[in-house]
Amino acid sequence: MKHLLGIKQLSAEDIFAILDRAEVMKKEVLQAGKKDSCLSGKCIITLFYENSTRTRLSFELASKYLGATAANITASGSSVVKGETLADTGKTIDEMGADVVVIRHSASGAPHMLSNYTRASVVNAGDGMNEHPTQALLDFMTMREKFGSFDGLKVSIVGDVKHSRVARSNIYGLKKLGADVTVCAPHTLMPAEIERLGVTVTQDADSAVNNADVIMCLRIQLERQKSGLFPSVREYHKLFGINNRRVALAKPNAIVMHPGPVNRGVELSADVADGPQSVIGGQVTNGVCVRMAVLDMLTH
Ligand code: CP
Repeated sequence: MKHLLGIKQLSAEDIFAILDRAEVMKKEVLQAGKKDSCLSGKCIITLFYENSTRTRLSFELASKYLGATAANITASGSSVVKGETLADTGKTIDEMGADVVVIRHSASGAPHMLSNYTRASVVNAGDGMNEHPTQALLDFMTMREKFGSFDGLKVSIVGDVKHSRVARSNIYGLKKLGADVTVCAPHTLMPAEIERLGVTVTQDADSAVNNADVIMCLRIQLERQKSGLFPSVREYHKLFGINNRRVALAKPNAIVMHPGPVNRGVELSADVADGPQSVIGGQVTNGVCVRMAVLDMLTH
C-alpha cells in the first residue's frame, strides 16, 4: 500500500489486514503505555484545509506514540492564503523529506491530486463529499469488536447521506465485508442512484432502524448546503432523529454510532448520544489505533 486514498481502492483482505494491525496497536501501544518506536526517524505531516478535532488530533497522537516526527499545517497558517497551489505545497513538503502526508480538503479528489506531486505516501483524511477512509476503518473496527463478523450485519445509516464522505466510505467497505446496508434520509439529502451501490434506500426512519445491529447517525452538514434542504431542524429531528423510541426498534444489543461532531437534538437525542448503546467514545479511541496501523503499514 503506497497511499490510502479511499476505501473504494481496498479489498476486503486489505481492510481486515488494517483492522488486525489496529487491534495489535490497541493492545500493545494504547493500552500498554503508549510507546513504540516503529516510526522512529519517519516524518508525518498533517495538512488540514478544513477544521477537525478527532482526525487531526488522532493522526498527531498516533505519529507521536509510534516515535515519528509530526508537524501540522492548516490552510489559514500556510502560504495557500498567498496563492500557493496544492501542487506546489506538495512539492515543498516533499523537499523537506516527509514520509507521509495526511490531507483533509474541501475538494473531492485533492488527496489523489497531491499524490502526483509528492514521493511521500498520501492519506486521505476526508476530501469533500467523496471519502473519509480512516473514519470508515475505525467504524469497522468498532463494529468488529462488538459483533465479531460483518456477514449479514444489518447497518442502518441515517442522516445527511448526500453530503457525507463518511457514508460513502462506509458503504464501499461494508458491502465488500458482507454487511446489509440501509440508508435513510429526506429526498433532498439522498444522492441520486445510491441504490446502485447495493444499499436499501428508505425515507422512513422507523423502518430503517427496525431490527438493525448498527444505527449509524450522520451529521447534518450545514456548511456543505447551499440552500435549505429541509424545512426546520425541529421537523428534521422529529422525522429522522434517532431517539430512544427508535433505538428500541433495533435489536436489543444494537449499537449507536456517530462520526462526530455530534449535533445533540438534531441527528440524535442527547440521551441516545450519551446512553448505554452509544459507542461514540469507543469510536474516537479506535481512531487512534486505526491511524497508528495505517501509518505503520504505509511506512514499512
Ligand atoms: N469524524 C471526523 O472526521 O471528525 P473531525 O471533523 O473532528 O476530524
